[in-house]
Amino acid sequence: MRAEVLLSADEIEQTLSFGPWPPSFHSDPSNRVSNNARAIALGEALFNDPVLSVDGAFSCASCHDPEQAFTTPEARALGRVLLDRNTPSLQNLAGLRWYGWGGKSDNLWAASLHPIIEEQEMAHNADSLKTAISESTYIDEFEVLFGDIQVQDSELVLVNIAKTLSAYLETLATDQTQFDAFRDALENQDLAAAVSYPEAAQRGLQLFIGRGNCVLCHNGPRFSNNEFHDAGVPYFLNETEVDEGRFGGLNFLLSSPYTLDGNWNDDPNRQGAWAVRNVRRNHSDFGTFRTPSLRGVSETAPYMHNGSLSDLNAVIRHYSKIDTERLHADGEAILSELNLSEQEIADLVAFLVTLSKELY
Ligand code: HEC
Ligand code: HEC
Repeated sequence: MRAEVLLSADEIEQTLSFGPWPPSFHSDPSNRVSNNARAIALGEALFNDPVLSVDGAFSCASCHDPEQAFTTPEARALGRVLLDRNTPSLQNLAGLRWYGWGGKSDNLWAASLHPIIEEQEMAHNADSLKTAISESTYIDEFEVLFGDIQVQDSELVLVNIAKTLSAYLETLATDQTQFDAFRDALENQDLAAAVSYPEAAQRGLQLFIGRGNCVLCHNGPRFSNNEFHDAGVPYFLNETEVDEGRFGGLNFLLSSPYTLDGNWNDDPNRQGAWAVRNVRRNHSDFGTFRTPSLRGVSETAPYMHNGSLSDLNAVIRHYSKIDTERLHADGEAILSELNLSEQEIADLVAFLVTLSKELY
């Protein structure tokens, strides 16, 4: 049988909306060392160095391993204690509106700052961090970028360090994948190139934008609307406690000094600060989590905010048999039992796998 493009004109139109990839880079106006080569290099070195934890116990890379797509295979992250959540990959984070599973940060330097001072993670405070940096081999680079450390308030040192980490993380974009080659071939009407995309993946893509309705939340070039939803993953931590998800994220965000509306934003125009100014907590935010990007997804098992699903097959089976009784948040009428066949499950997985670099 001859290979062919199975998609209809409408489906091709929708497929184009998942690109182009990679997106163009815009430096972050809230971070004055964004896109600064020295800051990126310092951020990368610090990311891999246990100096950022108070007792030298671990580095950012201990959980976000650069060799493993910036995550680790444990279901839930192991800090000083076992944390409640799965470690997300740190790729393709530049320019998002919200960070973290519950969206507790509205910018990337704040999302990089919190783990340094979080009790259960690196457990520094601003003073101990300032001392550690002053005594480290990084002091010269730090002072080239930010000036004399001794005249800086320790909170400023903390923010400056976080901004170098953020400058580094902004550079972690994933490459074109087999899917992007297909998408670009469709755009260029290059049929010969398009037909090399596996038919199973094409059928999976048809389900993704069609009957599966995945595209309602996983859309755009990152395959995420970057908003918060209940995807039917149980959010009980034990018999009495729940993971509050977005509700807890908003509580944190609204009392944080490190938002785009706070004093540490370097952008005089406060671009993007409208979002934190306008969010309100609603009961329906309980147990909702940020839609994850699906780029590189086959490299980041296990899945979901608590790492409870071990592979992509399990994720598709979860959606296929979703327990709609358990969906508690308002407005999640989007999700319903799909009752996929074995063939359809395999096709959806085949599609998702083409969103990762490996196959290219
Ligand atoms: C103990 C393991 C652990 C360590 C150490 C750690 N992280 Fe994380 N990281 C996590 C987990 C778990 C999350 C998800 C947290 C949440 O959303 O509640 C996360 C989330 C993030 C996010 C948000 C990602 C997104 O998709 O929005 C960023 C950015 C980040 N970490 C950067 C860092 C940096 C920088 C360091 C070092 C200063 C660091 N992390 C250290 C486990 C860790
Ligand atoms: C209502 C919005 C919504 C729809 C529709 C939806 N998802 Fe999701 N998806 C999410 C959210 C939110 C999460 C994270 C849920 C959690 O951790 O509790 C998620 C998680 C995932 C993950 C795990 C990613 C990771 O890194 O952990 C995959 C894979 C996935 N979805 C694929 C799909 C597919 C395939 C479909 C269609 C069958 C689909 N999604 C439909 C919102 C949605």
